[in-house]
Amino acid sequence: MPVDRAQMNQILQAELARFADTHAGSRERFERARRSLLGGVPMTWMAKWAGGHPVFAAGARGASIEDVDGNRYVDFALGDTGAMAGHSPAPVVDAVTRRLGDLGGATVMLPTEDATWVGDELARRFGLPLWSFSLTATDANRWALRLCRAITGRPYVLVFSHCYHGTVDETFVTVDGGGRPHSREGNVGPAVDPTQTTRVCEFNDLDAVERLLADKQVACVLTEPALTNIGIVLPEPGFLDGVRAACDWTGTLLICDETHTLSAGPGGCTAAWDLRPDIVTLGKAIAGGLPIGGYGVSADVAARIDALDDADLVDVGGVGGTLAGNALSLAAARATLSEVLTDDAFTHMTALCDRFVAGVRGALDDHDVPWSIVQLGARAELAFTPDPPRNGGASAALHDAEIEDVLHLFLLNRGVLLTPFHNMALMCPATTEADVDRHTEVFTAALAALTT
Ligand SMILES: Cc1ncc(COP(=O)(O)O)c(C=O)c1O
Repeated sequence: MPVDRAQMNQILQAELARFADTHAGSRERFERARRSLLGGVPMTWMAKWAGGHPVFAAGARGASIEDVDGNRYVDFALGDTGAMAGHSPAPVVDAVTRRLGDLGGATVMLPTEDATWVGDELARRFGLPLWSFSLTATDANRWALRLCRAITGRPYVLVFSHCYHGTVDETFVTVDGGGRPHSREGNVGPAVDPTQTTRVCEFNDLDAVERLLADKQVACVLTEPALTNIGIVLPEPGFLDGVRAACDWTGTLLICDETHTLSAGPGGCTAAWDLRPDIVTLGKAIAGGLPIGGYGVSADVAARIDALDDADLVDVGGVGGTLAGNALSLAAARATLSEVLTDDAFTHMTALCDRFVAGVRGALDDHDVPWSIVQLGARAELAFTPDPPRNGGASAALHDAEIEDVLHLFLLNRGVLLTPFHNMALMCPATTEADVDRHTEVFTAALAALTT
């Protein structure tokens, strides 16, 4: 049964009133914050929560957050993947305490052994031998693009429409139905029109990829193995192999951004699907919530970087950051990869996500609601359509802010958080079956309210 729009507005008003009643402390802090913080938040995207203002956090542990009004939440947003290891996992707390307190030295501009351990472990997981670190996945992508242009001598990059790889200038392009590229709607103050730096087509359109690479002017394809920022869009059979083959045939490098798709397993989709990228970029989760990003390169790419005579890679050449590779982030990454986001943890998280998806499908069936849910290992995403979209453009067209707002607020008011940007739920090692069942229960109640 389709949802009833008039009824939806009534439910939204009731949920806004309930939110106001139970979040007075957050509202008061938000009003105060508006005096000194742009938009009332430390980072402008934090304003994007249903309810009119964000909930102020008091603390968080495992899969649970407590706010300043004493409300508790099961957290399936998990910092939009930044907290995929759970909040403050004990091994990370210990490692950070040891590095910052016992040993001392968060940023000494000298290597620590933790970095070598993390490089070895990422090489084992992703099959790429050599790694370098940044503070964000955005920077990992930015620097990877620069390196690809430098070693190929080619001007363009290719991305897929409605991708998101962080605030990387070259990636803010979309393609219209006629195949024409455009600067993405809402792109803030681009230095140059990104259609001058970037070629773009829809995900799962192999013909377009082959056409856009054919003149050998593209340095690299930058893609997630499955799109995750416009809902989850899975690759169709043969698509990623076809992209790899087109790259091989044209001498184009392939970057897999595994920042979110790490949810597929310990080595992301690269290991789970046996992909052969030239470069993998990562970030967010791998230091247990502390700032980190990184990229791994093949031996061939490393040799080509080594052979660059005129590239300043040790000072002001455009690849680097003062706190990149800092000892604290790498201590946290070592603890996260060795003790938290382990092979066993992924097995547990994926099984919980299976349960989550089964719960959602059961509720959709029971209420005859024509939506679908797509899973990628430990993460799942609801789509307001019976058949999941096959590319970014189709997925963007389905965006429904009205339903999203009411659904997110209904869940939040009953102690369940989804990521505010779309309808993503992620499991962490501390998530329990009871947490998942709580979501199923509240989601079922939301559907009942929206359809009766
Ligand atoms: C696939 C992907 N890559 C890179 C990034 C950038 O991460 P950060 O904002 O931590 O730099 C994001 C952020 O959402 C992402 O989803």
